[in-house]
Amino acid sequence: MKEYLLNNGVGIPVLGFGTWKAKDGEEAYQATLAALKAGYRHIDTAAIYKNEESVGRAIKDSGIPREELFITTKLWNDIHTYEEAQEAFAASMKRLGLDYLDLYLIHWPNPKSLRENDAWKKRNAEVWRAMEDLYNAGKIRAIGVSNFLPHHLEALLETARMTPAVNQIRLAPGVYQAEAVDFCREHDILLEAWGPFGQGELFQNPDVQAVADKYGKTIAQVALAWSLQEGFLPLPKSVTPSRIASNLECFDIELDTADLEVLKNISGLAGGAPNPDAMDF
Ligand SMILES: NC(=O)c1ccc[n+]([C@@H]2O[C@H](COP(=O)([O-])OP(=O)(O)OC[C@H]3O[C@@H](n4cnc5c(N)ncnc54)[C@H](OP(=O)(O)O)[C@@H]3O)[C@@H](O)[C@H]2O)c1
Repeated sequence: MKEYLLNNGVGIPVLGFGTWKAKDGEEAYQATLAALKAGYRHIDTAAIYKNEESVGRAIKDSGIPREELFITTKLWNDIHTYEEAQEAFAASMKRLGLDYLDLYLIHWPNPKSLRENDAWKKRNAEVWRAMEDLYNAGKIRAIGVSNFLPHHLEALLETARMTPAVNQIRLAPGVYQAEAVDFCREHDILLEAWGPFGQGELFQNPDVQAVADKYGKTIAQVALAWSLQEGFLPLPKSVTPSRIASNLECFDIELDTADLEVLKNISGLAGGAPNPDAMDF
């Protein structure tokens, strides 16, 4: 699979396999194994998905050399200090059964309990410092953030020694966070697209269906092609082996400029971009 180059020179496969809601145990294990067999080399999990152990077992059982894989996990909202971040990282690594990680992300910028007096700013600065130290110790190949809007990134950059390599946000046809996209492009922060199928909503959309029909492809495949042509890194999730495999057949599509615009602007998706400053966790 082709790679993007992160701002620290590390290569990252241009598409990753999403695992949110893949249940710990057989479901997450079999889905991850099916993905690796189908050709995915980049897996996205998180401590809060509670499936790191099953994902890690599938990675091991796939027999694919570790250096051919790119594994991401994320630090949850209950982690507030430097020491807690070091411990959370060690716990994730233990569950995954890995001795180094490719990408570690702060999952959300603004935990609910830290909104008063902007306490989240200090928290992000602290956990970021821990992540930078883990990076400098050679335990992580790249560090980044998720669900950060420009004002969260600006606050982080006041004390950061390293610019985040990645910002993983919700991006899909019909969900385009222009301000965050522009900010990240200006700062050489790669955008990863979570929910690249609008968390399933795109499959009912007649406008996306029309574009898919025009190219003789599925809705899933054109949604991923759109993401790639925008320069995003999509993270499609499925626990269904046939979908896991067919979703990968998106690399031979070249959407024309008009269709890129049509997809960017489709309406009718109920679930838009989340407001990280108002999430209930
Ligand atoms: N950083 C964050 O805060 C954050 C938030 C959300 C997600 N993420 C990451 O991004 C990944 C993707 O987002 P997501 O899981 O929310 O949503 P998504 O990938 O947009 O959509 C997943 C849904 O699409 C279905 N699907 C997949 N391929 C299909 C196909 N070819 N035809 C029909 N249906 C298909 C899946 O069903 P089946 O599984 O039943 O096949 C599932 O219901 C996550 O798994 C996670 O790794 C990150």
